[in-house]
This record gives sequence, C-alpha cells and structure tokens, in this order.
Amino acid sequence: MANPSLLILAGDGIGPEVMAEVKRIIGWFGDKCGVTFDVSEDLVGGAAYDVHGVPLADATMARAQEADAVLLGAVGGPKYDVLDFSVKPERGLLRLRKEMDLYANLRPAQCFDALADFSSLKKEIVAGLDIMIVRELTSGVYFGEPRGIFPAEDGTRVGINTQRYTTEEIRRVARSAFELARRRNNKVCSMEKANVMESGILWREEVQWVHDNEYPDVELSHMYADNGAMQLVRWPKQFDVIVTDNLFGDVLSDCAAMLTGSLGMLPSASLGAPMANGRPKALYEPVHGSAPDIAGLGKANPIACILSFAMALRYSFDMGDEAARLERAVETVLADGVRTADLMGPEGGTPVSTSGMGDAILAALDASL
Ligand code: NAD
Ligand code: IPM
Ligand code: MN
Repeated sequence: MANPSLLILAGDGIGPEVMAEVKRIIGWFGDKCGVTFDVSEDLVGGAAYDVHGVPLADATMARAQEADAVLLGAVGGPKYDVLDFSVKPERGLLRLRKEMDLYANLRPAQCFDALADFSSLKKEIVAGLDIMIVRELTSGVYFGEPRGIFPAEDGTRVGINTQRYTTEEIRRVARSAFELARRRNNKVCSMEKANVMESGILWREEVQWVHDNEYPDVELSHMYADNGAMQLVRWPKQFDVIVTDNLFGDVLSDCAAMLTGSLGMLPSASLGAPMANGRPKALYEPVHGSAPDIAGLGKANPIACILSFAMALRYSFDMGDEAARLERAVETVLADGVRTADLMGPEGGTPVSTSGMGDAILAALDASL
C-alpha cells in the first residue's frame, strides 16, 4: 500500500524554523519505526505571495485537497502589512480552512507538570490541566456576508463584518465536541453571547438540540463567552471540552495557551468530514503565529508544531502509540529542564535554541526505543 501523503506548508517567520524540527522527527519515525510518509512541500502566506502574487496558489490548494494531511507552520508578518487585504498572508490560511471545509478546530491545552511553575497562574490552578477547545473554523464573523469597508452617508467610512451561523454549521461542530467529550471526561461547555446576539441564541438552542437528541449521556452546560474567559483564568480545571464559535474560539484559545506556560506549546488540528478513504480532511498547525519579533533568531519553541504532528499521527493516521511516544518524549525533555527562551523562568533550566530543542526531543525518542 502507498505511504500516506503529508503536504508541508511551512509559511512565514518562525514557521519554517519550527517546521524544520518537525521534518527531522518525521525522518526519525521513518528510520527508527518504519512509519513513512510521502512528504511534499509547498508555499503558503507571504512566501507564496513573493513567488506567485497570491497567498495560496490554486495548484497548492489542489494539492492540499488531495493530501492525506497538511502540516502548516505559520503565516504573516510586518513585511506584508502593506498588501491589499485580498492577498494578505492570512487569506491563504483562511482559504485552506474554508475550501477544505475544516469546520472543527481542536485546540487542546495541557499543562505539563514540568511547566506548572512557569504559568502566569498559580501552580495549583494549572497543574494537571487538560482541556480541549473546539473552535468552529469555517463560518461566523470570519466569513459572513455582507462584509467590507464602505463609504458612509456622512462622507466617512463604515467597516462591516457579519456574524452568521446556520443550524447545520452549529450542529456539526457540536457533534465533534460531544464525540470528543465521550472519549474524555464526558463534559461539554458551550460558549456564546446569547444575551446580546441572535446568532448566540441559535447557537445555544442548536447545541442543546444535539445534546438532547443525540448525546443525552454527555453533561452539557452553557456559558456567556465573556464569563468563559474569566472562568478560564479563575479555575480552568472546571472544563473538559469547550465548544465555541470562530472568533470567540480564536481569543479563548490564545488565553488558554498561557495556562500551559507559553503560546509556543499549543498544537491544533483542523478537521473536516471524512474523505473516501475514511480519513478526515485535516490540517495541523500550531496555535501561534509567525512571531516576527523572534523570527530568524533560532529562539522559537518548536513544541507546538511538533505536538501538531503528534495530533496528525493520532487523528489522521490512527497511530495513537506513535503519537503517545512523541508526546512522552516532549514531556521527558521538559522534565529534564530543557528550555527554549519562552519557557525560561526564574527557576532556570538548560537554555536551548529551536534546533537544540529538536535535538533533545530526538534524543528522548531514541531513548524510548
Ligand atoms: P504570534 O503568535 O506570532 O506571537 C505572539 C507572541 O508570542 C510573540 O511575542 C511571539 O514571539 C510569541 N511566540 C509565538 N509563538 C512562539 C513560539 N513558537 N516560541 C516562542 N515564542 C512564540 O502573534 P502576533 O504577533 O499577534 O502575530 C504575528 C503574525 O502572525 C501576524 O501576521 C498574524 O496574523 C500571524 N498569525 C498567524 C497565525 C497562523 O499562521 N496560524 C496565528 C496567529 C497569528
Ligand atoms: C489562528 C490565527 C488565525 C485566525 C489568523 C492568522 C487567520 O490567529 O489560527 O489562531 O484568526 O484564525
Ligand atoms: Mn489566533
């Protein structure tokens, strides 16, 4: 049987730096475990704009549709701030998500024991934390029409974006959340602003409908998203799975990142409906961006991108054992005090560069055999 195919889109800024470490790890699994992929690479974001004049070429889009899984680094950067909105690097990523119909974005936030002291919150608040944010990714205010910047009647301008959700868009992401909860601690908390937005009322009613009709065994609660943000930093361990819309999910997941110590730790999986071969359409990417402030300095933490590859092993390729091996290697390295700059607190540790972290994780993988 042919090897599964992986399309790598490293992107901009620290994207290629963290992806370089993932490529070494993919190589390790091939050499040491006989787990091989057909890896190919292409351009996205500013890197694609520089070559093609668009942040995602049609040919790249087609390759992404064909791939068994896509791994993405990050897009964007100050160099591209002057570009027209339609060709900004971020539009390339949004096109991938929309055209692949990757409606369920899984953003797990786990606090590794070795980093519990490092979080900006007290150790007892974050130690042992394991939550899963399920962010709706293909609709809502990111994509709703009408949108644009228009002349206003008084001669000034008006900027418009539209929050829009249909019943089916809400129901399908709710199902993803309930399915995940059944394999975890069986609790879902849905977040919206039903107190001020009609789309929030519909969100709440449809999530409740899916619960009552299809998942009555899962514990469901509802929370206004502003309270949810507060509760996330007050007592995050009250949550198991959080399901929320595109924009609230974006903000809440960056917030959850700090519970784990650094944005450089958070992986994600963006999943769509199953393809003909039974695998879900899937794109894996760290939650963080291109980090222009540290790009090119060898300072980036590659763990979010490496753990995104672990999610690919688990969710696209049914390789739970290999994923767990990689996650344990990351845990070991952190327990040994190996630290990129973003993880370096007052308690110290062994400072390493991006590739130094890759070296340490590869050594831990070797030791795991
Ligand atoms: P960012 O996530 O790039 O950076 C925020 C802060 O976190 C910075 O101080 C950065 O140095 C730090 N950081 C992020 N990742 C890190 C890592 N792996 N290791 C160590 N430190 C890390 O967010 P931003 O500065 O708001 O955005 C920069 C650019 O990235 C923008 O163009 C934005 O649109 C884009 N962006 C892209 C994605 C993506 O590609 N998925 C996600 C978020 C932002
Ligand atoms: C993310 C990013 C993206 C988003 C941008 C870069 C389009 O912030 O993946 O969290 O807003 O979804
Ligand atoms: Mn974001």
